[in-house]
Amino acid sequence: MVSIGMVGAGQFAGQFAKLFNVHPDVEQVFATDVLPERARELVEREHLAGTFDSFEAMIASPDVDAVAIFTQRWTHGPLVVQALRAGKHTYSAVPMAISEEEIAAIVEAVRETGLTYMMGETSYYNPATVFARQQVADGAFGRVFYAEGDYVHDMDLGFYAAYQYSGGENWKQTASYPPMLYPTHSVGGVLGAIPGHAVSVSCIGVKDDRGDGVFDKDVSQFDNDFSNASALFELDHGGVMRINEMRRVGYPSHIRESRFRYFGTEGSFEQLATISVWQDKHGVTDISNRINTRPSLKHDDPSLAHVAPELRDAFVSGYSEVHDVSRLPKEFAGVPTGHEGSHHFLVDDFVRSVVDRTLPPVNAWVAARYTLPGIVAHRSALQGGVRLEIPDHGDAPADLGVSTLTA
Ligand SMILES: NC(=O)c1ccc[n+]([C@@H]2O[C@H](COP(=O)([O-])OP(=O)(O)OC[C@H]3O[C@@H](n4cnc5c(N)ncnc54)[C@H](O)[C@@H]3O)[C@@H](O)[C@H]2O)c1
Repeated sequence: MVSIGMVGAGQFAGQFAKLFNVHPDVEQVFATDVLPERARELVEREHLAGTFDSFEAMIASPDVDAVAIFTQRWTHGPLVVQALRAGKHTYSAVPMAISEEEIAAIVEAVRETGLTYMMGETSYYNPATVFARQQVADGAFGRVFYAEGDYVHDMDLGFYAAYQYSGGENWKQTASYPPMLYPTHSVGGVLGAIPGHAVSVSCIGVKDDRGDGVFDKDVSQFDNDFSNASALFELDHGGVMRINEMRRVGYPSHIRESRFRYFGTEGSFEQLATISVWQDKHGVTDISNRINTRPSLKHDDPSLAHVAPELRDAFVSGYSEVHDVSRLPKEFAGVPTGHEGSHHFLVDDFVRSVVDRTLPPVNAWVAARYTLPGIVAHRSALQGGVRLEIPDHGDAPADLGVSTLTA
């Protein structure tokens, strides 16, 4: 049994607190937030064990074995290292961190402490990724030499409201968060399915022209004026990965916000907003029904009270046919999942890896390979697209004393 401390009780934490709380291997769930009323409200709504006054108090407590970090996207790196160094297993919402140094510090802390670190990458469990991973395992693609991942989420579709809730009156400073520093939903869906990692990149950033103070360098905490960015990566085995991170785009992200294509020498998989097809040298098979998810929750559920209406579709999407739900705890039955069915798998993989002492699929070394390429891509874009090498922390060391889960 394990007890979990939720760090950050904002828009995304609610469904995860609920899932941790019903997981049969979780004893107690606590919450903390720098805005204490948010932690109190989460505890009340989800019937959790209690609050802590601060993150520091939580990681100092012997009552907490593991923390789950759901703070704003640019804050994770230092909190993760502090939690690991305090002896807590750590789950982190994406991204892993926002600099090469922060990522190196997490990898080092995991190696030295031997504790579980898992990045909660929803795209790893995206039905397209799960399907492609299976096709790769079966050899159906032949050699995959080219793949694309797009995170296509327009600012107008919920992000204005989300950043206002998140950032308070200075929200425009943070709403300009650079697209390539949030690369894991696109990179994770490609590298979660095909072998290899990125070794170099050239990226072009598109400067925003809306003129509303978001993506304005003079306002931006990140000195950023790119709202869209496209990057071409070289993979270690000689293949190519193209990644798009789009925040100003006429696309229905409430239908599909991450989409993928994989091309092999024998077969290929391509996705549009509502259609997914498998192709080989003979023809096309429409597999949309296998990939598309069924809703697991209603839009007016109280747990979505703080989630912008335009973002709720992501939180209500349930399983697809390709998900192996037989591996999940029976206590999850009927409990909402989200982001194309991924939430149940994320929570279960983290709990299992802590309790069974196994290495989660998106461990620190994998998370670095999902996150670092975007950080270097952003640097490339700032230099007009110059091709840059991407550092690599390698595979998870075999001597960690844990075995890998099969997701
Ligand atoms: N598909 C996905 O995987 C997905 C989707 C949505 C959000 N996310 C991630 O989830 C995370 C949370 O997103 P959100 O929309 O809930 O953000 P949010 O701003 O609504 O909530 C963050 C909360 O953390 C609190 N906080 C900040 N620093 C803290 C600290 N040091 N100690 C305690 N509390 C602290 C804030 O007060 C706030 O209430 C982000 O990192 C985001 O990237 C991932």
